[in-house]
Amino acid sequence: MKQETGKKRIIIAIDGPAASGKSTTARRVAERLGYTYIDTGAMYRSVTLKALQQGVLDGLRHSPESVSSLLQNLSIRFDGDRVFLDGSDVTAMIRENRVSREVSFISSLKPVRDRLREMQQELGRQRGVVMDGRDIGTVVFPDAELKIFLVADARERAKRRYAELIAKSPEGEDLPDLDLLEEEIKRRDKDDAEREHAPLKKHPEAYEIDTSDLTIERQVDMVCNLALEKGVAGR
Ligand code: CDP
Repeated sequence: MKQETGKKRIIIAIDGPAASGKSTTARRVAERLGYTYIDTGAMYRSVTLKALQQGVLDGLRHSPESVSSLLQNLSIRFDGDRVFLDGSDVTAMIRENRVSREVSFISSLKPVRDRLREMQQELGRQRGVVMDGRDIGTVVFPDAELKIFLVADARERAKRRYAELIAKSPEGEDLPDLDLLEEEIKRRDKDDAEREHAPLKKHPEAYEIDTSDLTIERQVDMVCNLALEKGVAGR
């Protein structure tokens, strides 16, 4: 992307628990600032999908070191809103609940984190990116000029995820009920926060925003205003 004269290009790191509004906020902030949006959760989801497709998940639970074969020839590419895993468009598949259920396990494995962190650092090398995930401000880009930590009430997050699943699932497909979804979200947050490598936690310099009662517009405004304070010119 061509850099506009005088426009400061920084890294905006947006971390937080599941369904706290990170990806919607990050995507819109990137649009407003003319930055590139990078969804690191989609990368962990892609590796999880690959493990499911290869039928190696159970084996990995018993011998996690065999994960290296999963990472061989791994290619993850973004094209606008689409995500490509080893050349195939997996944008819809990586959002399925079967992937959500297993992604915390796959993302707890150190070789997976090491590989994806390298890819993410390369993607952000030229700066001018909004990157969302769990460890962007703490591990991937600890020097990010603007760090945001989004949180929201667990019930509210389950409702958002439920609405998303309803909107995306084909008619007639079974949906988990709201209570179950809330339980799964809480379990994933716990697993993400308690894992050994790059756990989910707020960087001391991060601005915490509770999105439980905020509209998307308001969230986006808040992050963009903070970016302006850091010297980023608006469009
Ligand atoms: O969209 P949602 O908040 O449900 O999750 P996501 O951002 O798509 O991330 C899915 C999972 O990937 C998380 O629950 C983490 O286990 C893992 N993840 C991670 O470990 N580190 C990141 N930087 C991003 C995601």
